[in-house]
Amino acid sequence: MSSQYGKKIKISIFGQSHSPAIGVNIDGLPAGIKIDINELKAFLKRRAPGQNDISTARAEDDVPEILSGLVDGITCGAPLAIIIRNEDARSADYRELRDIPRPSHADFAAHIKYGGFQDVAGGGHFSGRLTAPLCIAGGICLQILRGLEISIGAHILRIGSAQDDPFDPVSVSNADFELIQKNPLPVLKPEAGEAMRKQILEAKEKGDSVGGLIECAAIGLPVGLGDPMFDGIENRIAGIVFGIPGVKGLEFGSGFAVACCRGSENNDSFYMDGEKVRTRTNNSGGILGGITNGMPVLFRAAFKPTPSISMEQDSVSLSKAENAVLQVKGRHDPCIVLRALPCVEAAAAIALYDAFLDC
Ligand SMILES: Cc1cc2nc3c(=O)[nH]c(=O)nc-3n(C[C@H](O)[C@H](O)[C@H](O)COP(=O)(O)O)c2cc1C
Repeated sequence: MSSQYGKKIKISIFGQSHSPAIGVNIDGLPAGIKIDINELKAFLKRRAPGQNDISTARAEDDVPEILSGLVDGITCGAPLAIIIRNEDARSADYRELRDIPRPSHADFAAHIKYGGFQDVAGGGHFSGRLTAPLCIAGGICLQILRGLEISIGAHILRIGSAQDDPFDPVSVSNADFELIQKNPLPVLKPEAGEAMRKQILEAKEKGDSVGGLIECAAIGLPVGLGDPMFDGIENRIAGIVFGIPGVKGLEFGSGFAVACCRGSENNDSFYMDGEKVRTRTNNSGGILGGITNGMPVLFRAAFKPTPSISMEQDSVSLSKAENAVLQVKGRHDPCIVLRALPCVEAAAAIALYDAFLDC
């Protein structure tokens, strides 16, 4: 079974890049919650293609169509099913890929797994387009979490060699999230955004692509969400963030840097802040033993460069069983990171709301 996630709210994503529609079924949402559809549309717009010269030129409005689960804008307890119709599909661009798989895309692995019956058009079910329904589910969870005074925000930390300032791990705030949204690229430091834009355009001009890092924070979480060992907050977030196509790495708090530290450097000392227990540093990323400790939950996701590049690449002809040269056609993002950012926020919101309901 593919494309399903969650313990208390179960999310199932369906569709292909060029099928008539894509969508999500969300089961287990409590009844009686008002969903603001205009706010959801605004959230989806942050991921939508065709908005600038550093994203794919595919033009999709991504209008959510509610099929069930909402009555007068309020959840009614039935599964919430929402679709988005695909409108701007050019399937002819993808015909060659049935025989000559794109290096580092899912074409080859899917061809073997599904015996050649997989939908190759636009990347089929492996397309970044399938993150639109993920953003529908996540946009709804973000709204519900905000009602619980929990907020989530992300920024681009790095693209190629261009770097933004990291979040302050102990005091990242709603003001940071608002600032990120105001900047032309979602970063804390506008100069960093300009440098990132340059890196993307340089790669694009060469028919190449570039990878990057997204840093995400969740604030306002109570102490005690998550469970030890296999249902910890790290596990739950990893389970859904790795569902976003193109994610190749994930680290929480100080992440891989902890391997170079002494305990005296890495341990987060506790102190009393009025009646609250807080830590002076947050190398743990707000998670101890899989359970939230009340500090911001912080993680970074590494995205690979977009696999579909227009430079010539070595591949194979599967029908002829011989080496072949491929030049990928079609419209592609020169960098996934920008459009993936709301997907990371959405994924975190689904994981954390599901953990909240599972307490
Ligand atoms: C928002 C978004 C947009 C994407 N756009 C493209 C694209 O235009 N071209 C492409 O080759 N891959 C794109 N990808 C990445 C591929 O879908 C992904 O690399 C592929 O499915 C293989 O999966 P994997 O990289 O996780 O192994 C995009 C991913 C996301 C999240």
